[in-house]
Amino acid sequence: MSKEDLEDEGATSFQKTYEKYRRDIIPALPSHNLPENKEETNEEDEAYQKTYEKYRDILPTLPKEKGWLTEYLFQYQGFWLSPGAVKATMLVQHYFRAQPTDIFAATPPKSGTTWLRALIFATMNRTQFELSTHPLLTTNPHGCFPYLETFICEDGSISNLDTFPCPRLFSTHIPYSLLPAESMTGVSGCTFVYLCRNPKDVLVSKWIFININKSRHKQLPALSLEEAFELFCQGTSHYGSFWEHVLGYWKASLENPKKILFLKYEDLKNEPLVYVKRLAEFLGKPFTPEEERNGDVEEIVRLCSFENLSSLEINKHGEHRFNSEYVVNNRDFFRKGQVGDWKNYLTDEMVKRIDQITEEKLYGSGLRFGA
Ligand code: A3P
Repeated sequence: MSKEDLEDEGATSFQKTYEKYRRDIIPALPSHNLPENKEETNEEDEAYQKTYEKYRDILPTLPKEKGWLTEYLFQYQGFWLSPGAVKATMLVQHYFRAQPTDIFAATPPKSGTTWLRALIFATMNRTQFELSTHPLLTTNPHGCFPYLETFICEDGSISNLDTFPCPRLFSTHIPYSLLPAESMTGVSGCTFVYLCRNPKDVLVSKWIFININKSRHKQLPALSLEEAFELFCQGTSHYGSFWEHVLGYWKASLENPKKILFLKYEDLKNEPLVYVKRLAEFLGKPFTPEEERNGDVEEIVRLCSFENLSSLEINKHGEHRFNSEYVVNNRDFFRKGQVGDWKNYLTDEMVKRIDQITEEKLYGSGLRFGA
């Protein structure tokens, strides 16, 4: 059976999402070869099928727990993942061909992925686009470069990825320890910008996203805040435990500061100019004194701000299709964009418990989140 037979429906709808990326974004970038839908090689097809079969065999054997978006999460190599994320992670481990120049926006879900994607895209390509016609004015940040997990599951060919402009930009939620060590992590691996956030805000953002925004599978009953809280505290949350996810990237950033820039949402909110300059430097594209004098840093901060992005037509009325089943209204990527909204949702008891877990888990690591 070919990969197309296995994944036909998903691939078709997914390709629609990335048509815009291929058609509008890539040609405007430097050093590009416009990706074609290349014929897959037999070798590639075989490698995909082998992994897919492995995934199909392994999934029923994995420990499972109540899920957030999907009915169940499965524990794969120490982390709780949806079935799609298990498959994507296995494909990344056994099938993806990383390039040392690849840049990843890595996040735990609901930690500011949308913002980070916009900032990286705008910073890296700042000489390519006029502000008045910038792609972020007409494309949701999730459409500006691929989300590795859905791309590898749905696109149909990794050789398409080989033709993307260098450096290739990707977004991922995959925990650091699950990424292939030989090609992606370590001193000779890829570059990561990691953005995380106070766990209490992550929990609230995530709970609201799955319930109010109907992202949770339609046949499943709503997940109460109490249930979500329990699951989160146990570490049973998508791509979690949250604390293990954060610690994985934190420790790696200490070992390899040139490869991993570790950022916190709260810091970015407080001092966006400082951190956007740091981001540009880290990515090898420091702002020149002239750019600074011209206010280019301020412009990027403004372009990517919650207030600007959430007020754009595309983000008020458009939608983003992650795969055949999972479509998100763009407006749902933008809720409040504030620090500390958890105060409006969590009881004193909940706060006490989650703070205690955070303290215990992060003890001795040197990492802290503000209250
Ligand atoms: P809230 O639900 O607390 O408002 P992700 O992008 O990882 O899904 O994270 C979503 C969170 O980031 C949401 O938080 C959302 O409002 C916030 N967000 C989205 N775009 C943002 C931006 N440009 N600046 C700051 N926060 C943003």
